Amino acid sequence: MEKFLSVNDVQDLNEIVKSALSIKANPEAYGDVGKNKMLGLLFFNPSLRTRLSTQRAARHLGMDVMVMNIDKDGWKIETEDGVIMDGDKAEHLKDAAAVISQYCDIIGVRSFPNLQDKEEDYADGIMKDFVKYAHVPIVSLESATRHPLQSLADLVTIRENSDKPKKKVVLTWAPHPRALPQAVPNSFAEWMNAADDVELVITAPEGYELDPEFVGEATFTTDQDEALKDADFVYAKNWSSTTEYGKVVCKDNSWQVTEEKMALTNNGKFMHCLPIRRNVVASDGVLDSDNSLIIEEANNRTFAAAAVLKAILETE
Ligand code: CP
Repeated sequence: MEKFLSVNDVQDLNEIVKSALSIKANPEAYGDVGKNKMLGLLFFNPSLRTRLSTQRAARHLGMDVMVMNIDKDGWKIETEDGVIMDGDKAEHLKDAAAVISQYCDIIGVRSFPNLQDKEEDYADGIMKDFVKYAHVPIVSLESATRHPLQSLADLVTIRENSDKPKKKVVLTWAPHPRALPQAVPNSFAEWMNAADDVELVITAPEGYELDPEFVGEATFTTDQDEALKDADFVYAKNWSSTTEYGKVVCKDNSWQVTEEKMALTNNGKFMHCLPIRRNVVASDGVLDSDNSLIIEEANNRTFAAAAVLKAILETE
């Protein structure tokens, strides 16, 4: 694997899920794969799970890790080409990426959208520029449009929890007081569509329809109760409006995933990428139930990241 920005960078989806599960079953077995290799993790935005699980994944492979909050601890980065840099931005991304490539064998980058301009966000400029200007493989730690390490961990979690040949997976929008990116639901839909054992249904209020590029063959409905019927997995997530781009146009609390909503499912398992606002996105009763997979899902972030790093290291 030469980079990891989306499901399209994965040659064999089933193999990478198997690899993650194999590392999970025996995490000490791969300690030489990344010996004498350095992973650099660059964060333009906050993180708990991605930051810690990817460091842990690297350690399982014997890699060293450097982490930088590049937005706070580095020079302010210029991303435009050809500008006269006489403002407050002291370093160009093309120079930073080339320099960091000399210190690291793989670079992970997290860069959220600004939610002001859809065209600009969906161009995923920072991630693409790192791919362009770095001399080493780039791993997305969540871009403006996708969160592939999360989606791989989600697929691993689904496969661990059901061997049904076709699982009904429902991605449901849920309320949130703040405007959030569309990267997690976009990416989740993309990965579920690529999996041969998933029937994906997406439900959200009007104004929250995901881009057709990500919806693919999935069914879309604004009727959450109808969508939840017979679901094997319920994946809750808030995202900001797609029609009034980046805005919160619905705060309807009836979209919160409650025990009553989960009762419509086929004894469905509950998933969320975390962090989650309790009793806003989903109720305590759902999150603390035996059917909640949220902690297991976060644990699988380590093994998903390890499988990706291993695939890259074995390609070099
Ligand atoms: N799910 C996830 O990416 O968590 P963090 O934002 O804490 O990394």
